[in-house]
Amino acid sequence: MNLAKELKNFKGEIKFGEPLSRHTTFRIGGKVKIWAKPFDYSSLRLLINLAKLSAMPILMVGAGSNLLVSDDSLEAIAINLSAGNFSKFRLNSNIVSAGAGLGLARLIECSLEAGLGGIEFLAGIPASLGGAIRTNAGTTIEGRIKSISEVLEELRIMTADTKIVTLEKKDLGFVYRDSNLSQCIILEAKLKLKRKSKVKIKKLLRENLKDRLETQGTDYACAGCIFKNPGVKLLGAKSAGFLIDKSGFKGKRVGAAEVSVRHANFIINRGGAKAKDVIKLISLIKGKVKEKFAITLESEIKIIDFKLVPCFSKGTLNFL
Ligand code: EPU
Repeated sequence: MNLAKELKNFKGEIKFGEPLSRHTTFRIGGKVKIWAKPFDYSSLRLLINLAKLSAMPILMVGAGSNLLVSDDSLEAIAINLSAGNFSKFRLNSNIVSAGAGLGLARLIECSLEAGLGGIEFLAGIPASLGGAIRTNAGTTIEGRIKSISEVLEELRIMTADTKIVTLEKKDLGFVYRDSNLSQCIILEAKLKLKRKSKVKIKKLLRENLKDRLETQGTDYACAGCIFKNPGVKLLGAKSAGFLIDKSGFKGKRVGAAEVSVRHANFIINRGGAKAKDVIKLISLIKGKVKEKFAITLESEIKIIDFKLVPCFSKGTLNFL
């Protein structure tokens, strides 16, 4: 297939054989056939059609903060929506319409400038809005889990047949750190924020960032919490960090991957860590926590082993 011809009308940034290690906060990941940042809907449609024609799967990459991909190369199209139309911010009273590629830090900053709060709990989460919605990102404040779905009103997505559809919150299957949005492209979200004094918003932001830094801060590349907290829906839910800590894993290393001594649910890349090191460490942790507490930890990060990606047939759209 002549890729240059297929992409003749593509507007945006495109790279061939781009290492994903440049785009994940773990700084780990092999090469993908195409790395693309489309500027507009028609260029996004071109990529979807190319994926179908060539049977290449699509990997949506936001801030790359919840992603562990293997070190091999893969015939796939990685799409990042941080450019052009996809990172806009618009206001209508206290309703914010923002593009999926907008970073949460920028979303919080633009909202603050407009005197709108209610999303201070998202401060410090290194995610794009689309990635945060897909994973229902959030934080635990004073024992209560707060997730981005709480402020979401409406979502625009692009479907596999490149139609643009508006969905309501109730259709999105939000649960703790998950949604049913893995097989579509999130384009834009409407969030309902609250009018607040800028002083109060800034105070909350400072407090949340300080807490995060104190409990999790690291100078090394990492992907945030590796595991979900088990049993969050039940009384007496446990923190995965607590369980891993009590299993004696702080500071434990496989290759250059190390369990953070600050927060045991973080694995840090001490420099040059391979995906296989992290995967081995994850497996050791799961084994020990299961043995000691009879609890099966579930990954919060998305792990994609390129060797296990099946061959897809032409004509269908597949998301990794
Ligand atoms: N703890 C330990 N040892 C550790 C880590 C934690 O004993 O190494 C204990 C703490 O002392 C505390 C309890 O475990 O008593 C809970 O710890 P923490 O307050 O750090 O919260 P968490 O449940 O570990 C959750 C989210 C974080 C979020 C914090 C905000 C999950 C999986 N994690 O962590 O989210 O920042 O609350 O307080 O839901 C992420 O999702 O990537 C993430 C970092």
